[in-house]
Amino acid sequence: MKGVVGISLSGKFKCSLSLLKNLKTIRVAVMGRKVNALALCIGLDKIGVLDFLEEPRTLSEVSSFIGNVKREDVLRELLEVLVDESVLVKQNAHYKVNRAEVERLHEMRRSGNMMFRDSEPLLSGFEKVLYEIMVDVLRGAGFDFVAPEVATLFYIQTASEAYGLGRRLLLELGGGKASLKGRKILDLGCGFGVEPITILNYLEFDCHLVCADFFPNVVDECMHAEVKVNGESKRLKDLENVEFVKLDPSMRKPFPIPDEYVDAVFSFQVLHWSSHPQEIICEAARTMKSKGTFMTATPMKKREKSTTTDVIVKLLGGNKTYSEEELKGFFEEAGLKKYSFFLSNFAIAVKN
Ligand SMILES: C[S@@+](CC[C@H](N)C(=O)[O-])C[C@H]1O[C@@H](n2cnc3c(N)ncnc32)[C@H](O)[C@@H]1O
Repeated sequence: MKGVVGISLSGKFKCSLSLLKNLKTIRVAVMGRKVNALALCIGLDKIGVLDFLEEPRTLSEVSSFIGNVKREDVLRELLEVLVDESVLVKQNAHYKVNRAEVERLHEMRRSGNMMFRDSEPLLSGFEKVLYEIMVDVLRGAGFDFVAPEVATLFYIQTASEAYGLGRRLLLELGGGKASLKGRKILDLGCGFGVEPITILNYLEFDCHLVCADFFPNVVDECMHAEVKVNGESKRLKDLENVEFVKLDPSMRKPFPIPDEYVDAVFSFQVLHWSSHPQEIICEAARTMKSKGTFMTATPMKKREKSTTTDVIVKLLGGNKTYSEEELKGFFEEAGLKKYSFFLSNFAIAVKN
């Protein structure tokens, strides 16, 4: 079928069956939205807004209650996405809290639902410090991935079971060991080091890995991450089959990687952070050989409308999430004409 990458459905399910058992076939992005709705509720609760919304209030009343709000657009978006998740009810331009739905989200957290359990760093982060970031952003401040509060959150979050599971599923969808062993792989947005170690272990060290990230200190941390090789602890930077590249987050400079240098690109939970997803995908495609596979995971939404995930991404210094249609457009533009989507979070696209 035109535009669909050649993973047969049975093959797709076979390779991911054990992983799917863990995911219980839930739509990852939908659960992600629920987790993020709870995070926003916790943040609003911390600053007294949920109690304030026991009575119906307008946007400007909420804005005055918080005080010094410069980004009323973000506050409106925040309230609207919570209406979409039934956490707030909107009537005649007045917002009111729906306590039953807030309690349902807390109950999902207490019940140990995997997505909630693995998002504890985010949820407890909102309880302890991230609610302050939320207020600062509403008052006009900007944060990015390497702001201490954000970096600390993701240092912990990216080591979670859900991230590990997601990365292995993406590797399986990208052809698994059979296709990826012995190959040169660009780990695009490699993060602090857990991810390259996961790839190395999955491929039994039989690959060449190019670890690339957009922030020098993230690359630095990754270089110093320790991995066990035949029982011996080694730093990633000391492995012969691993190299490191620093990328320009503004995407004004191309990746410092030659054309057709790698067989595959692996990019997990990165695209929604950048304001330049098209440029990033084009550069990834340029660095891949013909028939190279681009593996990516990023929360995908049904429509282009904002979601709780978009608001969380924005508060933490990222950009936005995309619909499958938008991602298809990016792939086509980059010359990746065959693609496939999975569980509203994963995509595989192949270069001609
Ligand atoms: C949640 S981490 C994922 C890291 C890694 N793939 C993992 O799973 O451990 C988000 C990634 O997006 C990158 N990132 C954050 N802000 C960015 C921006 N403005 N432009 C490009 N990349 C960004 C970070 O450097 C990091 O690699």
